[in-house]
Amino acid sequence: PVNFIYGNLSHARDYTSDLLDLVQTYEQYTPQPHPQILAKIDEIDLDFLKEDLPKILSSMRVGTERIRQIVLSLRNFSRLDEAEMKPVDIHEGIDSTLLILQNRLKAKPDHPGICVIKNYGNLPLVECYAGQLNQVLMNLLANAIDAVESAMSQSTPDALKIHPPCIQITTTQSDREQIQIAIADNGIGMSDAVQARLFNPFFTTKPVGKGTGLGLSISYQAIVERHRGSLTCWSKLGKGTEFTITIPIHQTPNRQPSEREKAR
Ligand SMILES: Nc1ncnc2c1ncn2[C@@H]1O[C@H](COP(=O)(O)OP(=O)(O)O)[C@@H](O)[C@H]1O
Ligand SMILES: [Mg+2]
Repeated sequence: PVNFIYGNLSHARDYTSDLLDLVQTYEQYTPQPHPQILAKIDEIDLDFLKEDLPKILSSMRVGTERIRQIVLSLRNFSRLDEAEMKPVDIHEGIDSTLLILQNRLKAKPDHPGICVIKNYGNLPLVECYAGQLNQVLMNLLANAIDAVESAMSQSTPDALKIHPPCIQITTTQSDREQIQIAIADNGIGMSDAVQARLFNPFFTTKPVGKGTGLGLSISYQAIVERHRGSLTCWSKLGKGTEFTITIPIHQTPNRQPSEREKAR
């Protein structure tokens, strides 16, 4: 449906430019228009209209282009069509997750934007459940954003200039069999007590309505049980946090699902 708008916009642009051309020609060959026409020109503020209409059309074009991209990345992100294990481009998953979160990353009236540094290594395609992996990336990135936002709310504008809020995403192929994705933030960090309970279902330090405490426990299951990888955390209160996902590049073929997985 976005394509109806997108596709027709270029025609709309051509037609309006033709019509404006026609008006121009009329003006040229009719130096003394009828008073009623003059009144009409005045009423609709023709000069302004001529200038504004093409601008409106082009911003509509930019808007639909953006909608197209978001729809594409949502489709890419959810991979609803792919319940199967498949070789996927991990960087594509990270990028579409970031695109979905872009609204939370950009500058707001009360704080600067959050910078995202990508250190993408040379990764092979990785066999995994793309939809699930993207969900994990979403959980970890959303937590990182929450953490830097909390740190920003406790900081001053000057301090923010020296230590801008940042999220760093590093991917590496650690050996022949596995890859790693590290997501680091310079947010509020965690105490040892919080770190000890991090992966427990329903454990949250966020206010009611904001946190469910399920993100990390679901992520842990997805990585450790479904992909037979690992999810580890390093954190220091007031410094920041780093989560590292390690997953095998190839999953063992014909693995029997565990009883727990079957039950799902
Ligand atoms: N990047 C992070 N920085 C600081 N604390 C974090 C980070 N990620 C997770 N946490 C802590 O772990 C808790 C559990 O996270 P999660 O399972 O995603 O639940 P939720 O985000 O809904 O609270 C959070 O409430 C927070 O205290
Ligand atoms: Mg969370």
